[in-house]
Amino acid sequence: MIVEIEKIVHGGYGLTHSGNSVILVPLSVPGDIVDIEFAEGEGISFGWIKSIIKPSIYRKDPCCPVFGLCGGCDFDNMEYPYELTIKEEILREDLSRIAKMKVTDIDRVIGSSEYGYRNHARFKVSVEGEVGFFMKKSHEVVPLPDEGCRLLHRDINEFLKKIRRTGEFRAGGFRIRTDTMGNIFQKGVHGLKDNTFCYQYVNKLKYRLKIDDFFQVNNSVTAQWLNIIESYLNLESNDIVVDLFSGSGLIILTIAKKVKSVTGIEINRNAVNNARYNAGWNNVSNVSFIRANAAKGLNLLAGVNKIVVDPPRSGLTENIIGAVVTLAPSVIVYASCDTATFSRDLKRFSEMGYHLKEVSLIDMFPRTKHSEVVARIERN
Ligand SMILES: C[S@@+](CC[C@H](N)C(=O)[O-])C[C@H]1O[C@@H](n2cnc3c(N)ncnc32)[C@H](O)[C@@H]1O
Repeated sequence: MIVEIEKIVHGGYGLTHSGNSVILVPLSVPGDIVDIEFAEGEGISFGWIKSIIKPSIYRKDPCCPVFGLCGGCDFDNMEYPYELTIKEEILREDLSRIAKMKVTDIDRVIGSSEYGYRNHARFKVSVEGEVGFFMKKSHEVVPLPDEGCRLLHRDINEFLKKIRRTGEFRAGGFRIRTDTMGNIFQKGVHGLKDNTFCYQYVNKLKYRLKIDDFFQVNNSVTAQWLNIIESYLNLESNDIVVDLFSGSGLIILTIAKKVKSVTGIEINRNAVNNARYNAGWNNVSNVSFIRANAAKGLNLLAGVNKIVVDPPRSGLTENIIGAVVTLAPSVIVYASCDTATFSRDLKRFSEMGYHLKEVSLIDMFPRTKHSEVVARIERN
């Protein structure tokens, strides 16, 4: 069937219609006229491009030879400014469809270097010993081209080139990280001693973390992301703040010196140990940490007036939202890497006496379907 792609929706799929049914077409660009094959059915079905009859004006040739096969990228086939427009539209549409909010003004839309931004990758190794990433929705390894992955920082690709020549990797895969000083850290490459820790430097603060631990992946926008979180919190010296999902201390240490005190709540033992170490290393003393499940940690607290939450992609549970609202903070700053779960949680907050004041989009993950949102939510 020949169709025109209308728009891109959550999940990175192009959307088109046939009669009453919706067809989602991966790897398409709005405005493309494409010949698709699709499994006819009720409701939503998926279509695959057989050929492009007329390409969209926003389409470009992908930079990567394994684009479309490798599970890493979704948008390497379109111009980057257009990708940003699409991400803004997806945010607006999720807010309207899921949160039932018409948001016309997105406060700030921050783009990033489109390539070379990732400071960290977990590589997979095929049974034949080839290095790559998993194919979309599969555990089959797609080998990387010789030049490496365009999303990765050049220092990682350089290092990868050297170690690929030796051809010896652990079957389960390996990690490489780089920091802002250009140092390389790795775990799992045969013949090299594993690095236990790695270091990151953001806004004059330094962070030590275990090489396996979570850290924001895009050095070029992390500082701007933190600045937005800080400005949405509108910090004052008598504030008593909670950093929920505090990880290795990135947000808590950024805001601590401007407030009376901050409590970090985090479930991962390594992350809490890192955050405690990082507080001491940066001479920050007005912070404390609770290692607990988010809702349980919140239930131990009182007298909090601002809360920042930065949950995993799955967002907040009903228990966590309930525990946040019970503390009745005047401001909740919500950082999210998923516009759909963010919109779902925002709806719950709006049903419980809060409203959205401002929202910004930061493109932490160019060329992929993912983006980062930061919102200021105020008590009514
Ligand atoms: C997106 S990361 C944010 C970390 C930190 N804000 C940062 O920017 O580096 C989410 C964090 O939530 C933690 N986490 C996941 N589920 C949790 C839960 N139920 N309770 C507390 N922490 C949790 C993870 O261990 C992870 O460190």
